[in-house]
Amino acid sequence: MYRTHTCGELNLANAGKEVTLSGWVQKTRALGGMTFVDLRDRYGITQLVFNNDADVALCDRANKLGREFVIQVKGKVTERTSKNLNIPTGEIEITVNELNVISESETPPFLIENDSDGNEELRLKYRYLDIRRPQLRDRLIMRAHIIRAVREYMDGKEFIEIETPNLVKSTPEGARDFLVPSRLQHGSFYALPQSPQILKQLLMVAGMDRYYQVARCFRDEDFRGDRQPEFSQIDCEMSFVHQEDIFETFSGMISHVFKKVKHYDLGELPRLKYHDALKLYGSDKPDLRFDCKIVELNEVLPASEFGVFNTAIANGGLVAGLNAKGCATYTRKQLDELTEFVKVTHRGLGGLVNIRFNEDGTVKSSVDKFYNEEQLRQIGKVFDAQKGDLLLIGSDKISKVRKSLGDLRLELAKKNNWIDPKAWSVLWIVDFPLFEKDEESGEITFAHHPFCSPHLDDMQYFDSDPTRVRAQTYDMVINGNEILSGSIRIHQRDIQARVFGKLGITPEDQESKFGFMLNAFRYGAPPHGGCAFGVDRLVMLLSGGETIRDVMAFPKTAGGRDLMMDAPTVVDKKQLDELGISVKA
Ligand code: AMO
Repeated sequence: MYRTHTCGELNLANAGKEVTLSGWVQKTRALGGMTFVDLRDRYGITQLVFNNDADVALCDRANKLGREFVIQVKGKVTERTSKNLNIPTGEIEITVNELNVISESETPPFLIENDSDGNEELRLKYRYLDIRRPQLRDRLIMRAHIIRAVREYMDGKEFIEIETPNLVKSTPEGARDFLVPSRLQHGSFYALPQSPQILKQLLMVAGMDRYYQVARCFRDEDFRGDRQPEFSQIDCEMSFVHQEDIFETFSGMISHVFKKVKHYDLGELPRLKYHDALKLYGSDKPDLRFDCKIVELNEVLPASEFGVFNTAIANGGLVAGLNAKGCATYTRKQLDELTEFVKVTHRGLGGLVNIRFNEDGTVKSSVDKFYNEEQLRQIGKVFDAQKGDLLLIGSDKISKVRKSLGDLRLELAKKNNWIDPKAWSVLWIVDFPLFEKDEESGEITFAHHPFCSPHLDDMQYFDSDPTRVRAQTYDMVINGNEILSGSIRIHQRDIQARVFGKLGITPEDQESKFGFMLNAFRYGAPPHGGCAFGVDRLVMLLSGGETIRDVMAFPKTAGGRDLMMDAPTVVDKKQLDELGISVKA
């Protein structure tokens, strides 16, 4: 038997017991005729003690143990004289009388501790060592607990777990597909699924009624901290439901997960309309752990010669701002930094006007030339500005102002520690538009995916004003991250064909790309809807990770590489020949 106990479970109640433990050597230290070894496994750390007086040879062997050796020891559980109350095993140690080295280790390339000296690249290359660090280990364990809680909840609600294939047909779903060449039909390709979207809808046509799956999804997009080419979803679909049924079911699911994993009661989840989210927070994934709403000024600006604001309004743009509470004492340098922040290319605002409501009761602004004190106070009223507050105001195209102020809001919260790290903001965003218009090309594209049902009340605008049509689409947002997306689907062939048509998908393309789905709808399609949670993002938030790489066992780098396996790599010519593929130089 390799062990009678793990390294995390022994305590004073076991004192006097003869035990056998196995694990990795975390560290060894010799001290006044004794050698102490910290023995580690998944469950914790137990201190071993080797006494020179009792057995010189055994103690000698213990002194030679290197970091990360795998050993087995036998000995007696004894009360420690100097206790460590920070760990569950800290009141005991094992007085060892037998030591077996099971497997030696070379010196690891970085410290296997939370504060490691290895950079991320090195740790990704030796990920199996990285996972031995408590932080990463605990996050993977939490991941398993979250998925267990999800299964518990879904099983209790009559959902059936069904697996769908990973070799599927390439269908336009938003991102770029990963393709897999067929050996048996040269020139033909499977795609890896971006999500099981169509298949889960077909399971509803198949009468399965309530489905879920922990599904792998593959998207060849640009990777960022919250995006990986390969990730997991908790994918769900239900028949004979309206949006309200979905909200109830999945508010229940997320509350169950929070209760089980964080012992936290979420209460009722608020809902915010998509347009209100953009208007008030400049984002469709607002973080509501702090307030600081965007205030629009077009209708209330006092008359002035200030050309920047006047032109923006005349051109159909927006003048709006934020009240940075308590920031009136910001220095010139700090104000310049904020201006630079909104000027960077992806935000592109021309600048920021500031109005400072000083503690001494005076009001100063960067536009004193254009607005007198009374007018500034009038603007201040709209923001409910008090002594000590700083107003930051921008103007430009509506979407640009909202995006810039939305980002600025988050930046101010970060700089001023406005976010309570223990607080949670979990909410639904509802009433997304069905279509979006590209600002540059004017082309119409789908806002979520092409299978979302329009609000039937809005079908009257379908041809005359398509971007006015709301979709029965919803997101769940946690602490400013999009964690879930879903919708009520189209189950009527004619409406699906109209949506495809509006997206510029010709009848021929509809037939070749989606014919199998449209055909299925000929055979009795129930009304249905569903959603998918991003598992990695959810675990990242619940476990305190900074990126989703922190909660995946073997993630890719930002460049899409697996540094441990060294993938992707070139393959043998023979393999390519079998697939009928030649690589362009
Ligand atoms: P969507 O594309 O919004 O919807 O994805 C659902 C959720 O999956 C997560 N997610 C990702 N996580 C990590 N890396 C990525 N590259 C990535 N892309 C998405 C997000 C997101 O909210 N079929 C629909 C769902 C439905 O309508 O039922 C879908 O896939 O947390």
